[in-house]
Amino acid sequence: MDEPNMSNVELLSERINRIKPSPSMAAKALVDKLRADGRDIIDFTIGEPDLPTPQHIVDAAVVALRAGDTRYTASSGTPALRKAIATKLARDNGLTYTAENIVVGSGGKHVIFHAFAVTLNPGDEVIIHAPYWVSYPDMVVVNDGTPVIVAGDEASGFKLSPEELEAAITPRTKWLILNTPNNPTGAVYTEDELIALGKVLERHPHVWVMSDEIYEHFVYGGAQHISPVLAIPAIKERSLLINGASKGYSMTGWRLGYGAGPTVLVNAISKLISQTTTCPSSISQAAAIAAFLGSQDAPRNAGRVFEQRGKLMADLLKDARGVSVRPPTGAFYVYPSVAGLIGKTTPAGHILKSDLDVVNYFTESAGVATLDGSAYGVGPYLRFSFATAELAIRDGCSRIVEACLALK
Ligand SMILES: Cc1ncc(COP(=O)(O)O)c(C=O)c1O
Repeated sequence: MDEPNMSNVELLSERINRIKPSPSMAAKALVDKLRADGRDIIDFTIGEPDLPTPQHIVDAAVVALRAGDTRYTASSGTPALRKAIATKLARDNGLTYTAENIVVGSGGKHVIFHAFAVTLNPGDEVIIHAPYWVSYPDMVVVNDGTPVIVAGDEASGFKLSPEELEAAITPRTKWLILNTPNNPTGAVYTEDELIALGKVLERHPHVWVMSDEIYEHFVYGGAQHISPVLAIPAIKERSLLINGASKGYSMTGWRLGYGAGPTVLVNAISKLISQTTTCPSSISQAAAIAAFLGSQDAPRNAGRVFEQRGKLMADLLKDARGVSVRPPTGAFYVYPSVAGLIGKTTPAGHILKSDLDVVNYFTESAGVATLDGSAYGVGPYLRFSFATAELAIRDGCSRIVEACLALK
């Protein structure tokens, strides 16, 4: 088509120019392109389960479709789904909410975005511990907030300490984001660690807590998922618990997530949804009722499958010279240090200066796609997803071992 004769500066808002595209979505696009060009690529960038949506959930969607359940719903979600979510939160997380405390969106990401949009004024600060899910800072920035990044490190298991939290809080702090199990490190906070953070939060009643628990079903090696909202009762009236169907029930494409919190907040989110997307898909909502109230075998089994794959990936990567990996405790990612590769020279004569150079080297020379830790706020690390078939894990890791051996 004919393109308008106008520069991006004239057309696009200052708001959109503040942010960048999601690096993980950009990596997915690159993998798709390389594959379309005929390259044999093993994809460890994937942020979604490779398992199918369980049959009883698909069946519930088909029943809804056949029954003509194909119209707009309430913008906060159907009463039946909001009730089902309240039941799930009591059953799995020991938390009491009513349907009025719940807002359903088109994915957890959608709810997080809307929560920032309805609460942030220019200059309001959001504390984000690094490494973090790539979308948090951009969602804050596009909604006029200021991300306050607290740099985490491996020595502390990539977990926020009470001292770091205390030092990051100012009178402008609006939110603290807690993400357990964590993307990208797989860190899972223990109850004691949460209680210690809670003591700090009790001293600062103006700080709201966004508790992102989207990976709750994936905890390994005896680790347990405990909702921060349960561990720190004092924050319940100033927190938004985020979760959804995407990861636990292999439903990423259905776009169904929710927030649970005080009505003043969920009503504001719902008001904004009524003016943006109107409501989540009616069919996905019907399916999600089956997910949350039906058999919980699928998330349990997925947890067991991912635990084996995570162990396998960590074991295989131990043989990669210059890569230092810990077994994951949650989510479906390992986050190894590649400090040992920085400064090495590739067979083509390039010096690896950053973790992004390492990502490019592995993609180009080994046909293995990963993500750079710098995009998640802490380098030089790589994020490897093990939400992929065992065969691909074996093949991909042996290619990485070879590629590391080829460095001088
Ligand atoms: C930490 C974290 N939170 C939230 C989400 C959002 O998931 P969805 O929008 O599919 O519910 C993701 C997805 O990758 C994530 O990694």
